[in-house]
Amino acid sequence: MQNFTFYNPTKLIFGKGQLEQLKEEVPQYGKKVLLVYGGGSIKRTGLYDRVMEKLQEIGAEVFELSGVEPNPRVTTARKGVEICKREGIEFLLAVGGGSVIDCTKLIAAAAKYEGDPWDLVVKKAFANEALPFGTVLTIAATGSEMNSGSVITNWETNEKHGWGSPFTFPKFSILDPVHTFSVPKDQTIYGIVDMMSHVLEHYFHLEEKTEFQDRMCESLLLTIMETAPKLLENLEDYDNRATILYAGTMALNGVLNMGYRGDWATHNLEHAVSAVYDIPHGGGLAILFPHWMEHNLQVKPERFKQLAVRVFGVNAEGKSAEQAGLEGIHKLREFWTSIGAPERLADYDIDDSKLDLMTDRAMINGEFGNFTQLNREDVAAIYRAAL
Ligand code: NZQ
Ligand code: ZN
Repeated sequence: MQNFTFYNPTKLIFGKGQLEQLKEEVPQYGKKVLLVYGGGSIKRTGLYDRVMEKLQEIGAEVFELSGVEPNPRVTTARKGVEICKREGIEFLLAVGGGSVIDCTKLIAAAAKYEGDPWDLVVKKAFANEALPFGTVLTIAATGSEMNSGSVITNWETNEKHGWGSPFTFPKFSILDPVHTFSVPKDQTIYGIVDMMSHVLEHYFHLEEKTEFQDRMCESLLLTIMETAPKLLENLEDYDNRATILYAGTMALNGVLNMGYRGDWATHNLEHAVSAVYDIPHGGGLAILFPHWMEHNLQVKPERFKQLAVRVFGVNAEGKSAEQAGLEGIHKLREFWTSIGAPERLADYDIDDSKLDLMTDRAMINGEFGNFTQLNREDVAAIYRAAL
């Protein structure tokens, strides 16, 4: 295990009725609030009205930025920064999913930066401070509610990148499972795939003696896989929504990956596809992850075997580590297919016509991956296998 420092300052406020806490939390940071939200789901569910009510009760002056896209765009963040600078915003409140939260993170940091927000995303400049912000999460998926990362797309250049800073942890995040009841089935599935992929990204590392971390990852995967089919039978089951919501946060808030560095190549592969075709992040991961695994099975077959045996119940007796590992990969794909996730890029009408562009975008910062480094040929081979 490597040395590590764990730091996560986000206050997690979880459970039914916790929206009430807005009245305690927001006044600590200011009165001029920019409310950031997406394409309208919070208006349809009535959450918008309830949030506004709480903000009015504390006498906040509320400004709004609506229409944050799934796969949020830098152009939208620029609009938010302009409002912050023009109106002297003191606090941002993101109400929505990972996209709304990620966009809010960029606005918060860029409001304190003189140049273009995209500079922060491509690491041409680094945030030295940010406006404080909180979140009311409405979908279980990214973990953005309790981490400092943000993923932003630029359609002028077909680029989608992750960035982050020590200043972009939410001050608080309110997670009420009831707020996720209205998430449609397809988005629920994408969220489940995304959080499982986060655990898998952690799991594939080269560090030895990470028994406790391994067991935590395996336990999270088993819990999600046991809960997901039940949740998809009844999207308004409180306990199952709560389990999945909590699991999504734990999958990417730093708790699982102390003492080692996970791989994260598949996320880069997916972001490049999304940057060219604007597909849902979780859908892209469901297609690509099993192919990344098959491509890299030889790097450390024992690791794949451990996953196969402990999480997918593969009987490894009389089999090589590769054989058992491959069975595990097949079972992962079967599970995702069984809950309704896509299996091939063709499911999103993606053929090989832009394979070179996707490969260029994936390779924009050179070879990548911590478990093993992918070069151009690897990337093209994985995309081709996923067609
Ligand atoms: O825009 P609205 O109308 O709100 O609708 C959204 C959107 O269409 C809808 N939705 C959300 N909550 C709902 C709801 N519909 C009904 N009822 C509700 N309660 O769901 C759709 C998807 O929302 P989005 O925020 O895009 O989903 P998600 O949370 O999966 O976020 C995806 C984005 O996060 C990035 C992805 O790349 C993608 O851009 N990621 C961010 C990470 C991070 N910051 O740590 C890590 C991830 O790996 C990921 O890359
Ligand atoms: Zn993800």
